[in-house]
Amino acid sequence: MKIGICNDHSGVEIKNKLAEYLTGKGYEIVNFGSDIPDSIDYPDVAHPLATAVESGEVDLGIALCGTGNGMAITLNKHQGIRAGLCWSVEIGELIKQHNNANVLVMPTRFISFEAILEITDAWLGEEFQGGRHLNRINKIACR
Ligand code: RB5
Repeated sequence: MKIGICNDHSGVEIKNKLAEYLTGKGYEIVNFGSDIPDSIDYPDVAHPLATAVESGEVDLGIALCGTGNGMAITLNKHQGIRAGLCWSVEIGELIKQHNNANVLVMPTRFISFEAILEITDAWLGEEFQGGRHLNRINKIACR
């Protein structure tokens, strides 16, 4: 499975460590994020990740910024993206089970690296439950 990862300046080191962790578990990682400590604008990396998920270039995405909100707001402008902002394992499970989130967003400045790994594992390990949740996600798109 291919996972695209993007990050702003708040998540360079975390992105690298997370990518190494996921590579060790057999995932193929495609880096859409920043690799420098200088301040960048999160839409510049969020839009390319969203496009890659929508096109199927990658299967899923992970996005990291300080609060997670800049990434989530930008990613969710794309019709094919369901980006879920997560700060706990339970939310990580639920965004896959109920929302079929295809991008996991986490706030680098508010949770530990250990939490980032646990949430990522939880999200990757769950399945979409379909049923009433499919009806709901089918109503998300604006006409
Ligand atoms: C960068 O300082 C910060 O604005 C960014 O990481 C993110 O929190 C935006 O939503």
